[in-house]
Formats: sequence, C-alpha cells, structure tokens
Amino acid sequence: MSRTDESTPKPPSKMWGGRFRQPPDADFEQLNESLSCDGRMLPEDLRLNRAWADALREAGLLTEEEKSALVQALEELEVEWSGKKPPPLSAEDVHSFVEARLVEKVGSAGYRIHTGRSRNDQVATDTRLHLKGAIAGLKSLLAGLVAELLDLADSAFGLPMPGFTHMQRAQPILFSHYLLSFEVMLDRDWTRLQQSAAAADCMPLGSGALAGCAFPVGRLRLAAALGFGEVSRNSLDAVSDRDFLCDFLYAAAMLMMHLSRLATDFILFSSREFHFLQMGDSVTTGSSLMPQKRNPDAMELVRGKAAGMEARLLGMMSLLRGLPSGYNKDLQEDKAPVFAAIDELGMILRVTRRALSDTRLNEEAIRLAAADSFLLATDLADYLVEKGIPFRQAHHVVGEVVSYALEREKELTALTMEEYRKFSEVFRDDVWSWLSLEMCLERRSREGGTAPERVRQELAEARLRWAPRLAGTAPADR
Ligand code: ARG
Repeated sequence: MSRTDESTPKPPSKMWGGRFRQPPDADFEQLNESLSCDGRMLPEDLRLNRAWADALREAGLLTEEEKSALVQALEELEVEWSGKKPPPLSAEDVHSFVEARLVEKVGSAGYRIHTGRSRNDQVATDTRLHLKGAIAGLKSLLAGLVAELLDLADSAFGLPMPGFTHMQRAQPILFSHYLLSFEVMLDRDWTRLQQSAAAADCMPLGSGALAGCAFPVGRLRLAAALGFGEVSRNSLDAVSDRDFLCDFLYAAAMLMMHLSRLATDFILFSSREFHFLQMGDSVTTGSSLMPQKRNPDAMELVRGKAAGMEARLLGMMSLLRGLPSGYNKDLQEDKAPVFAAIDELGMILRVTRRALSDTRLNEEAIRLAAADSFLLATDLADYLVEKGIPFRQAHHVVGEVVSYALEREKELTALTMEEYRKFSEVFRDDVWSWLSLEMCLERRSREGGTAPERVRQELAEARLRWAPRLAGTAPADR
C-alpha cells in the first residue's frame, strides 16, 4: 500500500463535497440534517468505528500506528461525549460528526476510517445496535411491571369478583384470575419484544453503499466484536431493510394495546359506579373546578398514548412501502418514531407499574358485586344438565326462573323449593349447595379455569416464568 497523505489536498467540510461548487440552501440543510435525532446513537457509532478500525487494520488498510491513534481517539471521544448530545448542525449526521472529530484528533488516519464502508451500512448497523440495547431495557421494565401485577394477584387471592361480557355481569371469577389474564397477554408481549430483538440481531456492516465491501474485512469477526448473532446475506437488502423496526413497533403497539385495556378496566373500576378500587395520589389528579374529583389521568394517558404507538407502526410501513431498491434518504425518517416509541414505552411501563402499586382494592364492594345470585344462572342450568336435562332446555327453564325472580325482585337463592319445582320436577334440595359462589368457582378447575386451585398454580407458574426475566438471567438475556 503506498501512502500519499502529505501530497493530497484536505477534503472540504462536507464528507461528500468533492463534486459540489455551491453550498446547500439553508432550509434544505436544516431538512437534511439528522444529527439532532441520530446524535443519540453516538455511543453505537463510536463502538462501530472501533470495530471497523480493527477490521481495516486486519485487512492491511491501516498501519498499527494509525489504528492505535484511532482507537485512542475513539476512547477519548467516548469519555468526552458520554451522556452528551452533539451540538445542533455541527455535522450532517452522527457518522459525519464522528469522522470530523477523528480527523481533528488524529489527522490523516481519520480520513482513512471510512474506507470500504458507507453511511448506508453504518446507519443500519447503529440503529440495530441501539434498538437491541433499548429492547433489553424495556424487557426489564416489563418484568418489573409483571412482578407488581403478580404481587397484587397474590394479595387478592381468594377474592371473587363478577366477570363481565358486553360489560354486563356474567359469571363469578377470582380477582386474581382477572389480573392473571394480563400476565398472559404481557407474556406474549415479552415474546414479541424478544423476537424483534432477534430480528435486529443481524449485522449490515460490510455491505457498503449497496453492493458489498471490496476490501478483505472479516465480517464474521466484526459481527462478533459488535455482539451480532449473524451477518446480513444480501448487501442490497441490508442497507434498506427496516423490517426489524416494524417488528419492534408492532411489539410496542401490541404491548400498549394490552396496557390500554388494563387502563380502561381500572378507570371503570375506580368510578363511583363500580367502586372496586381506588388509585392513589401518585397516579391521579384533581379537578381545577370540582374539589371532590380524583381523576385517573395516568391510566387515561396509558390508553391515549397507545393510539400514537399504533400510528408509529403504520407510519413506518407507509414510509417503506413505496421505496425503490437500495438506500433512499426517506429512510432517515425511520429513527425519530422509533426513538419516541422507546422513550414513551419506557415511561408507560414505569407509570403503569406505579399505578398498580398505588392501587387499593375495595374488597367489600367487589365481594358484594360477586354475591349477585344471577351470576350463578349458568350453574343452575348446569345443575339441570347433571340431572339429565339437555342443555338447551335447561337454559330455557333457567331463563324462566330468572324472569320470575326478577319480576318479584328476589335473588335466585331466595326462591323456595316449591317455586323452583314449578319450573322443573328435577329440582331437589341439593340445588342449594350447588348454587354457592364457592362451588361455582371450584367447579371450573379445567386448565385455564378460575378454580382457586388452578389460579394458585397459574400464579406459581407465572412467578417461575418471570423470575429469571426479572433477574435478567432469562436465556436470551445472557
Ligand atoms: N443520516 C442518514 C440516515 O439516517 C445516514 C445515511 C445517509 N446516506 C447517504 N447516502 N446520504 O439515513
């Protein structure tokens, strides 16, 4: 390799400025810059540069001295810029910012660092690195939230509530069973987050601008140095593949959708009409006008923010669908919604956890609602089935019993045997024990049912499932 640093002219301030004679329009420069957004990926870009310097050295494109100087400069930059964002408009994007700083520090070796790479493979690699780190953080927040949910399910164990369909009282369930339904949703969300991290775990670096890298860089070694599980298989795809961002936004939108449904329940349950629970001062607000108010703003915002999260997924897909093959500058618009999604999801997970920990159940009101004897109507029909009556007929008989009781404003459990026998000959005194709330819960002991023994088991299994996730020792986290 011949080295001609001394004789070659200094490049202009723009990294691509060679063929240009006029400066860009000021408004266009504002529009074009992405440093104000991608400056957040400075740590990832420094990491990438460090690995790339090693790869260039191995390929014989840097001397040992040049590589050492670059590595030292990168380490200094890491310290100098730790926790800081690059000043606005100090460069076009984070990649040109880092290159300019390297040139400042080490001179000509800085001009060599961009050998064989493009900002196209660089930005795709930085984004993947950033997202992988962010997802790890979000997963740990999710595990913390579920731990809180399980604590609440534990402390409410045994408490019956009315379950609803169509927002109408339907059948009794355990309050813990209700809470555990969200554990199941959040478990699927965990898997989706995990899958989106796996989708991001593929390294585009070494794809160049679109056609691949002409220099003998070891891509597998690069991937190992940057912690990637695999390397991309096609350079043209690699520079414009943003599927992993859609995967993440989908996982985020689904997670928010589930939290939004939980929020809606809690908003309703905290109303005076339900009076099932009260959320504390830390997650509610008052009214500027009505002194008695306690408003569930935190949960309302959890629900409200879910709308924006869906919009980000839709926006990303709209951004991608019309693009011709290869990198296009439209792709620069991919990061702002993803960064916003990361930050907002983190905030929502923390606030929802806080809302759960600051919730007090009004057990008495919940118990009273669960004691509504009409919740047992299905069990009354099941009783007749046990006595040999076909279910459809049993359903009809109980429908008549219900209508009779409602007209007389009596509970199903307050009718006499004489009254029952007007509707069917098969009613016997054993119907009274059959019609108890406890029996009704206990009978639902198949897998997934609300029987207390089942729910206890589900709770224990959920604890086992989330313990390693909470400790950060779940298989994919290691
Ligand atoms: N700032 C750009 C982005 O975020 C980096 C890639 C730019 N590449 C280019 N050829 N202009 O997408």
